[in-house]
Amino acid sequence: MPNTLWAVIRKYAIRTYGCQMNEHDTERIAGLLEMDGLQQTELFEEADVIVLNTCCIRENADNKLYGQLGNLKKLKEQRPDLQIAVGGCLAQKDREIIRDKAPHVDVVFGTHNVGRATGLLAEARDNGPITEIIEESEAFPSALPVKRNLSHAAWVTIQIGCDNSCAFCIVPAVRGREISRPYKELVGEVEGLAAAGITEITLLGQNVNSYGRDLTLKLRGDELPPNAEDLAGKAWVAGSRRSRPLFSDLLRSVAAVDGIRRVRYTSPHPKDLRPETISAMSEIAELCEHLHLPLQSGSDEVLAAMHRGYTADRYLEKVKRARDQIDDLALSTDIIVGFPGEREVDFEQTLEVAAEARFDNAYTFVYSPRPGTEAAELIDEYVPASVASARMDRLRKVIERSSRLGNESRVGRREEIIVEGSSKRDPNMLTGRTRHNRLVHFPANQPIRSGSYAQVEVTAARTFNLLGELVEITSAPKHRTRIPVVAS
Ligand code: SAH
Ligand code: SF4
Ligand code: F3S
Repeated sequence: MPNTLWAVIRKYAIRTYGCQMNEHDTERIAGLLEMDGLQQTELFEEADVIVLNTCCIRENADNKLYGQLGNLKKLKEQRPDLQIAVGGCLAQKDREIIRDKAPHVDVVFGTHNVGRATGLLAEARDNGPITEIIEESEAFPSALPVKRNLSHAAWVTIQIGCDNSCAFCIVPAVRGREISRPYKELVGEVEGLAAAGITEITLLGQNVNSYGRDLTLKLRGDELPPNAEDLAGKAWVAGSRRSRPLFSDLLRSVAAVDGIRRVRYTSPHPKDLRPETISAMSEIAELCEHLHLPLQSGSDEVLAAMHRGYTADRYLEKVKRARDQIDDLALSTDIIVGFPGEREVDFEQTLEVAAEARFDNAYTFVYSPRPGTEAAELIDEYVPASVASARMDRLRKVIERSSRLGNESRVGRREEIIVEGSSKRDPNMLTGRTRHNRLVHFPANQPIRSGSYAQVEVTAARTFNLLGELVEITSAPKHRTRIPVVAS
């Protein structure tokens, strides 16, 4: 009997190619598929539905997808019942190209209709391939069912889209204009997560500091509607209606939710990072002392050409203020090498700023022209690939040095970690994350449930992670072992 039952359970496999927002959408697509009775598998070979959730931030993301779709074609020829869906930013941007290059794809859907994924798969089963892309939506992925990777930590989207126009970036074109979620709804979601035993949340947005700008624009005028406080928060209404609810108000409100022990956020834009955000981080224990502040370049000329709205000095000033106020702050960043027109002298300024900022970690990218963006037009100024890659090697060395120094400074200290599970490389080791978001590997002398809080003593530093010994488990996880899929 169980075998018969097993045979009828359909399975899905899903791959994520992009950023946390993309991953967050993946959680929602997985949640919807599970609501439809499908079970997850890692193996494409045993999946009845395969979903590729794409990214188009750099060119190699495109190439990877088309390579993958080529492989899946053979699978589909062997098993015509297999359904393949392509969603995410690349689908939003290149819908027709995907259709042309991969006619065996059943469903192409975009970033604004994640909630339709399973509906479209059902329609495609009856009527054949479908492409459905919409340009804008007011629905946030957080309003959909969810299947999380970690049961103790959750992402919370506070805004979608982006109203900036960084010359290199495709995000505004694929994610649309910036729309903030109502304040009360966000705090309510965090309360619901905490009630389900989640203790760590990460607030997500492309420019979290501008949270609420669109909400308060709607509320301008003498008479406030009765729902003003729900939309923009108490502090905004009480504070003579400041230009917008401050992101720091939101940080304070979610950190105050009972059961939430760690709050992170990404990404703040350096031009908009306000003193109030730094003050909140310095005052509130639940706000992790980790700032991810994308630098992009250390050259004022390049920053101006990128339309980033700050200079290298201004960036460093903000870092200094943050370090002065927030005890034991960890700093990470994003940097682009080889932006069109970047000269050796510009790049050297990036090295200098990186050295001065002492980043604990950095995501470094070789500039990749994205058709439709302003910088992609500057063909005459493209930096040769060999030059960009040599610069990248030099930058990596600077980052590795500061990252290693940062890690070495932890040796001998006790750190609070949340246990994540077994180490991928060595099953005899467990891993956990510190408040700085550093990964610590430690020997698994006893079974510890993921989501437990523990103290470890750091015994050694590697370039990008730490080794430690367990001192004590300080609290067991509050979530049930496996959180069922729920509509939040
Ligand atoms: N909203 C975030 C960035 C999101 S994209 C912010 O402004 O901080 C994540 C990172 O990808 C960017 O910070 C940038 O470093 C990198 N990136 C974006 N477009 C790129 C491109 N065309 N080429 C190379 N890297 C790029
Ligand atoms: Fe892209 Fe700039 Fe918006 Fe970030 S702030 S998503 S880099 S346009
Ligand atoms: Fe993210 Fe890639 Fe889209 S970085 S917003 S998934 S283009």
